[in-house]
Amino acid sequence: MDEDFRTLEFTPDGLRMIDQRLLPGVLEYCTAASSEDVASAIREMIVRGAPAIGAAAGYGVYMALLEAGDDRELFLRKCGLIRNARPTAVNLMWAVDRMMRKAEGCGYSPELLKAEADAIVREDIEANHALSKAGLAVISKGDTILTHCNAGALAACGWGTALGVIKEAHRSGMEISVYADETRPRLQGARLTAWELMRAGIPAALIPDSAAAVLMRGGKIDLVIIGADRIAANGDTANKLGSFMLSVIAKEYGIPFYVAAPLSTIDSATPDGQSIPIEERDADEVRCIEGISIAPAEMPVYNPAFDVTPHQNITGIITERGIIYPPFGRNIERIKSGEKP
Ligand code: MRU
Repeated sequence: MDEDFRTLEFTPDGLRMIDQRLLPGVLEYCTAASSEDVASAIREMIVRGAPAIGAAAGYGVYMALLEAGDDRELFLRKCGLIRNARPTAVNLMWAVDRMMRKAEGCGYSPELLKAEADAIVREDIEANHALSKAGLAVISKGDTILTHCNAGALAACGWGTALGVIKEAHRSGMEISVYADETRPRLQGARLTAWELMRAGIPAALIPDSAAAVLMRGGKIDLVIIGADRIAANGDTANKLGSFMLSVIAKEYGIPFYVAAPLSTIDSATPDGQSIPIEERDADEVRCIEGISIAPAEMPVYNPAFDVTPHQNITGIITERGIIYPPFGRNIERIKSGEKP
């Protein structure tokens, strides 16, 4: 069911992406015709979700090479523009750096660079399916799962991470059900996760973000599964604002709290959560909903797009190579170097 749309694909006209700002009302694609367009599509959240941003950036670097020709300085500047489009999701920097390394290593061959961008997409879909299967180990038949933001096919190149695990459990006949947080202010849960859950036919209900505590205290949630934008070397995890609060409540009521993410989201160069840059977005995201003002126009706003869940609040990290349990620092290193968890 989920495979009937492509979040993004490269076409002769440029990078074609679902315009995620328009869902669930309209399923419409828009095309980024230049590397600058790709950077602005990432900034404006036409494409969003850590792995999808990384994949879009991969094609952006390929387009930058076509645009810059032999002018290496221009190529670097264009790559820098993409790399800086958003600060928190490490998949963006990871993909740009991978593409730039490839460009240098392959003598700036456009064909080989395009193949590398395609490989990022292919590997992400494979990783999502593998981690979704691994995630079944933490779910029991009949479980009710709480998820936050959108970590589904839309946020990745296909299938999804946290929502991938949920879809895998559903298709395995585990009779799970889901609560999806609406995820203020951009409403990725209400607009995108709800859309994906309905399409997949998974029993689910949408909740205001503030209802999570009541449900957890009432014994209505068996486990929480969220995605990630960047996992530091010690396991601290940046994800959509509100994830940290969920982790605190889950800990209070002894509810397992899992993060599902491909290894490309683990940033060993970032030692801990304090070192993760947190994006602050426009005040109007909070003052308005869908363009309609809901607060005084001049009202000051604090609008961090992400927060950091400390590793002490995380039960396990579900990856394509298996589930990482504490101590995260040591076990992340082991799994990244190819050892079995
Ligand atoms: O601001 P967004 O919508 O890009 O934030 C997305 C998230 O926080 C997702 O949970 C995360 O990127 C994981 S996506 C598989």
